[in-house]
Formats: sequence, structure tokens, C-alpha cells
Amino acid sequence: MISKEFLKNVKWTRKDLTNLQSLSIDELEEIFSLAELFKESVVGGEGKLDYLHGKTIVNLFLEPSTRTRTAFEMAAHRLGAHVITIASSASSIVKGETLRDTAKNIEALTTDMIIVRHSAAGAADYLAERLSIPVINAGDGAHAHPTQGLLDTFTLRERFGKDLSGKKITILGDVLFSRVARSDIHVLKKYGAEITVSGPATLVPPSIAKTFGVRVTYDLREAVREADAVILLRIQHERQDMAYFPSIAEYANIFGLNEMREDWLKKDAIIMHPGPINREVELDSFLADSARSVILRQVTNGVAVRMAVINLCMAAKNKASI
Ligand code: CP
Repeated sequence: MISKEFLKNVKWTRKDLTNLQSLSIDELEEIFSLAELFKESVVGGEGKLDYLHGKTIVNLFLEPSTRTRTAFEMAAHRLGAHVITIASSASSIVKGETLRDTAKNIEALTTDMIIVRHSAAGAADYLAERLSIPVINAGDGAHAHPTQGLLDTFTLRERFGKDLSGKKITILGDVLFSRVARSDIHVLKKYGAEITVSGPATLVPPSIAKTFGVRVTYDLREAVREADAVILLRIQHERQDMAYFPSIAEYANIFGLNEMREDWLKKDAIIMHPGPINREVELDSFLADSARSVILRQVTNGVAVRMAVINLCMAAKNKASI
């Protein structure tokens, strides 16, 4: 059990979490240390905590989600907060209300925090600048998915230890449109991991090598040969306005990771995926459900990591208003 005194003494000062690029190692360590403690309470069946008793958190999800939305709901609920989830189809956004007006009205309803998912890159920063309550980015367009980057790193550190320097991580698939790839790269590079990205050249432009400081290869075997972990990405048709490869079957044929290609992997390489998986496209069921897969562990870790983020941003806001 974490004492309330411990939570009052956090060094974290950010009201919002909208990206991982700007976080220092000290800030990341504070998130991960707290997430470790919360994970003990989650898997230990400690039940509901009361740190955020009396607080109300609104989950404003204007894009579909299963894992992130539910994990944020679980995290807030486990911390003792009251949670309200608003989906775009059930909000007045369908009547033409702006995002700013929607969020301002949610704040005026005496909400203590907004967690937002939106199809537009920059939506979370836009709200963070305009609201006095904390804003947490649950994924904005192809820009950032900070809590996914955190839970992926948390999962890798559980497997390989806290120092990831020299660990080889391959990110495979639709990198161009992936907020997960961006957030993963930003945080994993801070921990010294060596990142390779691969996929069709249309979705993994060569310029990514310089922009993100990663290795690029278009040869799947070469991409996974030395990897300690392979992070598969879904093809995001909803963000693509043209065909980036001839067909799903051809994508699977050239870039799909499957049973026949398992011997291209290192003996103890692990497989990760943020979900949802397009089974038999980027990843086949044999590997997705194999002992190598830590995909469901990622999901469980997402609750603990989000408990940490919610708690830290709420603590920073409360300290600032004392
Ligand atoms: N990883 C992820 O963002 O999944 P959802 O879209 O289900 O939230």
C-alpha cells in the first residue's frame, strides 16, 4: 500500500501529459516507480484505493478505443475517482459543437481531469493550453500516444531490466501514421535502446532514419534478425487517404511475421503489439498467442502506468492550487 504522504511528496510538476519528447529521465523514473507500486496493488488484488476519492475524471474519447479507454477507466476507478466516459457519437460534437467548447463545458461541470483521444494531431496540446484542469493525451492523430509509449517501455524493462542500453528493438509496419511508433521511439531512445524500423517504403520513408535517429531497413529478415523485441504495428487504414501497398495479402506476404518466419527471430526475442491486432496480416495467431508474446502483459501494465500518470498530474495540479 502506498501512503498518501508518499504521494504528496512527488517531484512531478506537470499538470498535463501530452507527449513523451519533453520528459526527463527523472520524470520518467517517477512514473515507472509509481507504476511498479501500483502494479503490485493491481495484480495483488488490493482492490480500490481512495487516493482520488471525490475527484471526477472525464474520458473524452472521440475516436474508437478498447484498451486505452478501458485502462484509463480502470485506473481512475482503482484510484477511487468517479469516471464518466463520453464517446463522440453520444456527444454534442455531432451537432457541430467545437472541441474547445465541449472541453470548456466539461471543465465548467467541475470535472477534475480530462483524458482525450482525438483524430487530430495536436488536439491534446490544444486543450491543455486552454483548460486549467489536467489534460492527458490518450492518442491524437498520428502525433503521440504517450501512455502507450510508457506501458511499452515498462513492459520491456520488466523483461530486460531497467537499463535498456544496447537492447535492440524493431518496430515493424505502418510507422508513418503511427503515434505509437513516435512515442515508443522517443522514450526508448532516452533509455539507450537501439531502434530499427521496417515496413513498406511508402509507410517507412527513408527520412525517418534522420528524423528519429533510427536504423531503417526494408528487408524483414534483416530487421528482426538481431532484435530482442519486435513491436508490430497495425496498418491504419483510417489515417490513410491512398493505397500505400498493393493489397493486404501482399503486405502479409512481405512484412507479416508468422510461424514460418519464427526461426528468423532470436531464441528469446519477445513480440509486442499495441493492439488491435490484424491477425494473419502483420502477425499470425501462432506468434500472437505464443510464449514469445507479451501483448496481454502490455495491456495489464497499461492500467498501472495510467494510475501513475493520473495520480502525478492530479497531484501536480493540487499542489499548484494550494
Ligand atoms: N493501443 C491502443 O491504443 O488500443 P485501443 O485503440 O484499443 O485503445
